[in-house]
Amino acid sequence: MTPPKPLAIVSANVPDDLLAKLEENLELHVVPAGTRLHGLLPREVAQRASGLLCTVRTPVDRPLLEELPSLRVVSNVAVGFDNVSIEAANAAGILVCNTPRVLDGAVADLAMGLVLCLARRLVFFDTFTRDGRWGRTPAPLGTDLSDKTMGILGMGRIGRMVAQRAQAFGMHIIYHNADGRPQQDGTTFGHYVARDELFKSSDFLSIHVPLTPETQKSVAQREFSMMKKTAFLVNTSRGPVVDEEALVVALQNGSFAGAGLDVFTNEPLDPRSALAKLENVVLLPHVGSGTVETRRAMIDLAVQNLVDAMLGIQPRSMVNATAWPINVKAMSSR
Ligand code: DGY
Repeated sequence: MTPPKPLAIVSANVPDDLLAKLEENLELHVVPAGTRLHGLLPREVAQRASGLLCTVRTPVDRPLLEELPSLRVVSNVAVGFDNVSIEAANAAGILVCNTPRVLDGAVADLAMGLVLCLARRLVFFDTFTRDGRWGRTPAPLGTDLSDKTMGILGMGRIGRMVAQRAQAFGMHIIYHNADGRPQQDGTTFGHYVARDELFKSSDFLSIHVPLTPETQKSVAQREFSMMKKTAFLVNTSRGPVVDEEALVVALQNGSFAGAGLDVFTNEPLDPRSALAKLENVVLLPHVGSGTVETRRAMIDLAVQNLVDAMLGIQPRSMVNATAWPINVKAMSSR
């Protein structure tokens, strides 16, 4: 008799061919993408599930892990994993996988897109044209990117790609890393500066740090007060890295010129929020990785990570490699 396939919960949009690949290897319990799983799973599924494929919209915290005693691997369809308690996963011996690298270019493109929107007022001018103001009202001028300073907070893989793009636009690159050290790998553009200097000198400042207890609200009133009045802030990383209340006040007071935001403290952003009332912001619905090619590459990698881990093959991208190898035997015998 063939042993039963291990059971995985799937809470992500998986294309049919990848669903077939999952079904070949695993028994699946499929729920809509982004479902909060707490208390929602049938008891038998909660008891038996050894794998979970999910997006950043599913919180995977200690209470959930306690509800899933057989869980051995969480495959997150994202590079960020702030939705997963790594501490609780480590304590329970659960491997967490993510999807690094495949989305770097798409996120960098979007960050640069926001820079262009802010510099050249693209969103404003779209409305201006549709409203029939063209020819009747003078069009306000934008600002050049060439010879301006692009500051990168967090020169990791995505930061580097933003730097490459900004350099192609003739910008000067400065950057700061949280560990206080310049990049050593020889692939980095620009000059390393102290953190305060980054906020003081940037004409455009793009945030590329992960959300951790240390980075939460780390860009706040103090940082805004150092920025040039003409500077713009771009955030495509995680909303809670920025103190959003302080950001609203700074933008209302004109502490700096404007912001381009793809991420927010609470997502989806409430359209009645103070941020949505400001004219000097461009708001996007967390679509940094939102291209056909990139989303496909992410789900491909996340599915492969899950199947590999559950079949006992070391997955390509592990967040907490110390949890590997996982107890596959225990999983398939349940
Ligand atoms: C990521 O992969 O972390 C993107 O922000 C999508 O959530």
